[in-house]
Amino acid sequence: TMGRKFIVGGNWKMNGTKAQICEILDFLKKGPLNSDTEVVVGAPTIYLQFTQENKPNNVAVAAQNCYKVPKGAFTGEISPAMLKDIGIEWVILGHSERRHIFCESDELIADKVKHALENGLKVIACVGETLDEREAGKTEEVVFRQTQAIKDKITDWNNVVIAYEPVWAIGTGKTATPEQAQEVHQSLRCWFESNVGPDIANCIRIQYGGSVTEKNCKELAGQPDIDGFLVGGASLKPEFVQIVNARG
Ligand code: G3P
Repeated sequence: TMGRKFIVGGNWKMNGTKAQICEILDFLKKGPLNSDTEVVVGAPTIYLQFTQENKPNNVAVAAQNCYKVPKGAFTGEISPAMLKDIGIEWVILGHSERRHIFCESDELIADKVKHALENGLKVIACVGETLDEREAGKTEEVVFRQTQAIKDKITDWNNVVIAYEPVWAIGTGKTATPEQAQEVHQSLRCWFESNVGPDIANCIRIQYGGSVTEKNCKELAGQPDIDGFLVGGASLKPEFVQIVNARG
């Protein structure tokens, strides 16, 4: 823990209507949300402004993606400058669905992280292995490679949160055990210690994502190197409040 503020993100993915978002914002307003926990919700692009305008003060909003340049002929894309323009503070980058469904490379994701940080956004950068990679004993190799690609482009990690999301645990109901998650989180922190430096290793926050629920969140939150969650399905439901409050 080392004084790292617990941070829980809700990644709504491509879900929700205005009416449903109002319901989610209502249960967030009702809370109560532990004030020792930072809370961020990732809204679909089209609802970012609506979410930003209707959210409670103790919740921040994230985009789920953005591009690597400020503006221009990139049909369908949005830039960090546009997100800042409507008051958005965060962006989720490198989610496994972006990597696997939309074929985003380590290098493109790293370019996006760099550009987002340069424009004053805070970044949740996602890493994680597939089931095949885990079964081949390549978990560390994969998450280190994904993190190294970002390290090749940035030097300041202060506004970066890492989300470790094993792909086999996303949306499957198969949560990593607290031991499995802790093992990778600890390896990642050691990687930061060796490759970036002890200060960043101590203060960088590493979220776990993948089938987090109100039932399994407390045990996961008790692991020393788990500093929060990135929650998909359960972030659309009132039990998200219990996940936010998993610590304390
Ligand atoms: O980004 C969060 C996510 O990929 C996990 O999704 O539905 O398994 O909680 P879910």
